[in-house]
Amino acid sequence: MFKISARPLRSAFVRYSSNTVKPIVVDNKSYHADEWTNVPPYILKLIDRKLHKNVNHPIGILHDLIRQNMEGMGYTIYDNFHPIVSRYQNFDSLGFPEDHVGRSTSDTYYLNKDYLLRTHTSAHEQECFINSKTPGYLITADVYRRDEVDRTHYPAFHQLEGARVYDKGDLEQIQQDIDAIPQTNIIVEDPFRENPVTPNNPGQKYMTDEEIRLVSTHLKKTVEYLVNQVFERARESAKKAGSTEPYLNEPLKVRWVEAYFPWTSPSWEIEVWWKGEWLECCGCGVVQQQVLLNSNLGDQKISWAFGIGLDRIAMLLFDIPDIRLFWTQDERFHKQFKQGEINTFVPYSKYPGVKRDVSFWLNRDYKLHANDVMEIVRNRAGDLAESVVNVDEFTHPKTGKKSQCYRINYQSMDRNLTNSEINSIHDKVVEDLVNRFKVEIR
Ligand code: PHE
Repeated sequence: MFKISARPLRSAFVRYSSNTVKPIVVDNKSYHADEWTNVPPYILKLIDRKLHKNVNHPIGILHDLIRQNMEGMGYTIYDNFHPIVSRYQNFDSLGFPEDHVGRSTSDTYYLNKDYLLRTHTSAHEQECFINSKTPGYLITADVYRRDEVDRTHYPAFHQLEGARVYDKGDLEQIQQDIDAIPQTNIIVEDPFRENPVTPNNPGQKYMTDEEIRLVSTHLKKTVEYLVNQVFERARESAKKAGSTEPYLNEPLKVRWVEAYFPWTSPSWEIEVWWKGEWLECCGCGVVQQQVLLNSNLGDQKISWAFGIGLDRIAMLLFDIPDIRLFWTQDERFHKQFKQGEINTFVPYSKYPGVKRDVSFWLNRDYKLHANDVMEIVRNRAGDLAESVVNVDEFTHPKTGKKSQCYRINYQSMDRNLTNSEINSIHDKVVEDLVNRFKVEIR
């Protein structure tokens, strides 16, 4: 719907401080602002939270659980990387094309042209390939994306990355490692297991068919094993909480679908059948040789990598209805969770939402991306923004002017909101839309 560009469009560029020349200082490092700068202060504040390292927080508990399941299997653990990375780390080192949508200022938070908040843990693959002394590594970290606002999306979330390197030709070792992965009784739908390469999902020329098949099998079995461990725990906790739903007694079902990532080929995603829905939870693939060459591993290595999103899974494990809860400072949330324990969240209360619409004519000279609206709302409402939905859009048949309407639901997780407080937040949102994007309110 929106034109995608790697260059910052005038309109996608949202300034948050009035005097933009001031450099941004984060953890004693200074970043000069330029026309790429679009990271708002409320996002920078999230950097300090480090939820994945909080052993008494659902994200930290899930992180621990996965780590424990991978212990003794040859993976070095990294969980301390700073979220500000270079453009090279996040994109170039992984072979992202110049015009990839991920690079745009509508999708990514930039400190300036050269530095950004990592959008995925893959940003650290190269340094881990270079530094890891074990054949594998795991990276857990907070990642950031400009995104929609709803129950399951938040501009900050968490990923766990895994990778494993083999010597080219060492088929015996790979087979041995495959055999060493504990068996599960998970039901796997994988049309690509025996023949991983298809016209849409090519293999790499430097690998033999058998190398591709074995590396892919090891990758997929590792992911299936992890998914199984985690979802078995989810089941146990749901049963413990008294749920008798039939899915809790059926074997876990997963399926593999083809995917595309610039730095892996072939690539897949695994989806888990959970409560009547296919849940996407992990992208992965056979690492492009160029990444390994850039990491000084030489031309005789092969490798796989995966990246699991933790927040959605933690929502299921702990039965957490709204992703914003992870970021609340409310004790009624935090006191419910303890290291090593997976239990069902007990809502402390549900407060009503307050809906407000904003309708306007777009200004032709400014490009307004849905994510810009999302962000203006978040910037003014913080975690009171429960959801922002584009509910109407039309073009005037005579003038050709475009109109949009967004519906914003303001709702607090911790208390009741007053109309006057919402009105004043909403007025600011409208003001920002008018000032930054020159829209005409209808
Ligand atoms: N980084 C990818 C994502 O965020 C996931 C991924 C990791 C894919 C490693 C391939 C290899 O979606």
